[in-house]
Amino acid sequence: MTTKPFYTRREFIKTAGAAAGGTLVAAPALAGAGSFFKEKRRMALVGTGVRGVSMFGRSLRANYSDTVELVSLCDINPGRLQVAREYIGGNLPAYTDLDEMLAAQKPEVLIVTSRDDVHHEHIITGMRHGCDIITEKPLTIDEQKAQAIINAEKEYGRKVIVTFNYRYPPYRAKIKELIMEGYVGDIRSVDFHYHISHSHLMRYMQRWHGQRQYGGSLWVHKSTHHFDMANWWINSDPEEVTAWGALERFGRKGPFRGNNCRDCNFTSQCPYHWNILENEHLRTLYTDNEQYDGYIRDNCVFREEIDIWEKHTAVVKYANGAIMTYSLTADTGFEGYKLVVNGTEGRLEVRAGGWPRKFGEEITFMPNRRYSDREEEQFFVEHGSGGHWGGDPVMTDQLFRDPDRPDPLRQQAGVRDGVMSILVGVAARKSIDSGNRPVNIGDLTTIQPHPARGLEV
Ligand SMILES: NC(=O)c1ccc[n+]([C@@H]2O[C@H](COP(=O)([O-])OP(=O)(O)OC[C@H]3O[C@@H](n4cnc5c(N)ncnc54)[C@H](O)[C@@H]3O)[C@@H](O)[C@H]2O)c1
Repeated sequence: MTTKPFYTRREFIKTAGAAAGGTLVAAPALAGAGSFFKEKRRMALVGTGVRGVSMFGRSLRANYSDTVELVSLCDINPGRLQVAREYIGGNLPAYTDLDEMLAAQKPEVLIVTSRDDVHHEHIITGMRHGCDIITEKPLTIDEQKAQAIINAEKEYGRKVIVTFNYRYPPYRAKIKELIMEGYVGDIRSVDFHYHISHSHLMRYMQRWHGQRQYGGSLWVHKSTHHFDMANWWINSDPEEVTAWGALERFGRKGPFRGNNCRDCNFTSQCPYHWNILENEHLRTLYTDNEQYDGYIRDNCVFREEIDIWEKHTAVVKYANGAIMTYSLTADTGFEGYKLVVNGTEGRLEVRAGGWPRKFGEEITFMPNRRYSDREEEQFFVEHGSGGHWGGDPVMTDQLFRDPDRPDPLRQQAGVRDGVMSILVGVAARKSIDSGNRPVNIGDLTTIQPHPARGLEV
């Protein structure tokens, strides 16, 4: 255990200076040293993988340095931490122990971008040190860890924000707006069918995401986004889940298996062969630092330990009476989804995604003529610039530039939203494991499903 930053500024300048001809000696003074920075929110980050270093590391320093001071970094892998530190810039103190970092740096906000199964530890440790939390999805991966977060939020009274960036693309906000304006009336049923392509699925199968113990399976790691959007659009809590799933192509179902893509006898036969060494960013962050933690990023997609599903189907009953039929089909060449929202006064339909990427999405409204005076309407909403169809910068502006901006669509999510979205996936896992029995969400944590979101007591 370190009792000081893993790299202090002085040590870093010594080692990096020797390696880089001393160019970093002339680096500017540490952010936060002067009174100019006093009013910025002091934020620290735990988990310096690709997501942490780009979306919250570099982007914070490049786009929000006038409102936020990123004060320090933490990761259990010291090699990756050092690469991340150089990539993000700013000569930030870096720690391999979160408690030590929080005690020494006293940030106001902890940003959690670590592996899914340790989010709860980092969220709770952050709150214990008096921090508000901004955490990546999924909030956590099972109901016990969710309960620990619920309890800690009560105990410490800190604010927790879950970064559900999927709520922020302009056309998804438009769907929410149309529902709030009463286009469909009361929602009775939802068909939500999501597809991720082979090349997307392969990335999951290669990493920790292929094992339930780390990512909770795609029911949680991926579908948390979809369940959150559904809960948010339907504006009610899920109550009961029945699910089916299968693993048919990857893991132990594969025809052969090797050690990893760099060390494999089947490279010419394998449709998923991939050379990570050709990607410098990934090589320096991951491959060059495997000796510290054994994290292999180009694992065999046919390895025996894979215990997640490729195809997922669930029926979700909501507390307001709506029923959603949901699927996540991952063994396909298509990336996108079809959404239908049926209500007492009409129906919204969206078919999003596909390749080549479109520059916007179409939403079709069909009135239920017996009950609605509206005409059929088509809405075309352009994607914004930036990641996730323009959603990421809208979300990060709210987080880092304008935290008090009005939120009429209730896009910002907290613990309750995070819990309700993962519990659908947790219940789906339990349903499959118990022979497709219905599972009650209310049995999983102390949070009870409520028919109308925002009106819970
Ligand atoms: N919202 C989105 O669209 C989106 C996209 C990508 C990733 N994510 C989320 O971001 C998070 C990070 O994803 P990633 O792709 O960068 O994963 P990653 O595995 O590349 O990075 C995770 C980092 O956490 C570190 N870590 C693991 N255990 C730790 C511990 N106990 N203490 C400190 N550090 C620890 C690892 O060493 C690694 O550097 C995940 O939760 C993922 O679900 C969200």
